Amino acid sequence: MDIKPLNPFYTGIVIPDAFFCDRAEETESIINLIENGNNVVLKSQRRIGKSSLIHHIFLQKTILEGYNTLYLDLFGTKSCNDFHVAFQNKLLNAPFAHSTKLRRNFEQMVKGINISLGAVDPLTGRISLPSIGTTPSQIPRIPLEELFGYLEKTKKRNLVVFDEFQQIEYYPERMAAILRSHIQLMNNTKFIFSGSSKHMLNAMFMNRNQPFYKSSSNIDLDIIECGAYEQFVKNCFKQYGKSIETDAVRLVYKLFLGETAPMQETMNCVFAMTDKGATVGIPLIIKAVNVILDSKDESFRSLLNQIEKERTRNTLYCIAAQGIASNLTASVTMKRFGLDNASSVQNALIALQDDNNPIVRKLAKGTYIIDNRMFELWIAREGNYLDLKIDCADSRFERQRILECPPINPFTPKD
Ligand SMILES: Nc1ncnc2c1ncn2[C@@H]1O[C@H](COP(=O)(O)OP(=O)(O)OP(=O)(O)O)[C@@H](O)[C@H]1O
Ligand SMILES: [Mg+2]
Repeated sequence: MDIKPLNPFYTGIVIPDAFFCDRAEETESIINLIENGNNVVLKSQRRIGKSSLIHHIFLQKTILEGYNTLYLDLFGTKSCNDFHVAFQNKLLNAPFAHSTKLRRNFEQMVKGINISLGAVDPLTGRISLPSIGTTPSQIPRIPLEELFGYLEKTKKRNLVVFDEFQQIEYYPERMAAILRSHIQLMNNTKFIFSGSSKHMLNAMFMNRNQPFYKSSSNIDLDIIECGAYEQFVKNCFKQYGKSIETDAVRLVYKLFLGETAPMQETMNCVFAMTDKGATVGIPLIIKAVNVILDSKDESFRSLLNQIEKERTRNTLYCIAAQGIASNLTASVTMKRFGLDNASSVQNALIALQDDNNPIVRKLAKGTYIIDNRMFELWIAREGNYLDLKIDCADSRFERQRILECPPINPFTPKD
């Protein structure tokens, strides 16, 4: 029998089924697509739950029993070489590849050239492979062709996930074309390409001129529905002899715009602060949010310090204050927030949306928000208007949803 965790609100990406909220439909759709021979592109904004969903899928019976699974996070990889080493390490260390010729050959290669690759495990005699970032440049590489080729020969089928897949577009090589040449020939292995840059993934998979055009089925992961999250949270509290008011769960949901990561982080903290038999109300939620903001004080302060130009910082403060900010270059707005002129605001917006460290996200034409809601709340607290953000959480949520998923009203012919 599984041991009950001390806290049912997980903050990592591997979550036991019993504490995984919802996503039943998405799980079924993705498994169905894979079972029917399709590759999948899984997209969502940041912190919604892509990586956790992938690990959840790995734990489902069909996948657990029918597939070898391999998960590779490409965040931080910068070149084809980084990809190659990371993929090779993952594959050679995967339990299903342990006693294989591929692995033995690699160990022979390493011994042959006598380089230091870290420790040899005294129990198994196996060499522990270096993790990405610490890889010596001389590490022998099994050609990609052979690595992918190995996957085609395994008895069980394989499910390989490349998370943050859009990262390959930053490599100096034409990595998409290189990968396509291998992947398109594969039958025994299916792929999930996952990532948080919707526009880049759309460009990669929906653009006729791109190597991955139409190669995969698309799944857009939305926020968990409020009702489903409410049920989940109440049930988690109940299992431990605690309870939580509906309004309290709704405040967390609306305040964090339905984003799973900060909601779970807050619930984890609230749960830890609640005694058995007690009921959580809104005041405890606010207390927990403050505790979390305290814990992030140093990192948010340093994020702010990285922004050198005062104009850029003022633009950021302006967006934080407005929440959903538009008309940033209108003279009233610029005057109110001490912004110099329209072109310096435009430059600030470009700097704040840097692909490598996006602090601001464009929500719609001329409309911007701070990408990390927790950071926005922290700025609000520094400016003494956190209460206002909490009071307006409901209306902010509604406005953001409409802008994010605008209703479409196609013209209906009269007859
Ligand atoms: N269905 C779920 N049930 C419970 N907790 C979840 C669920 N989905 C996500 N979480 C929690 O939310 C956090 C964020 O999820 P995850 O890292 O999977 O999101 P992501 O979309 O991959 O984010 P990023 O874009 O930053 O990589 C995780 O720490 C996890 O604990
Ligand atoms: Mg992720």
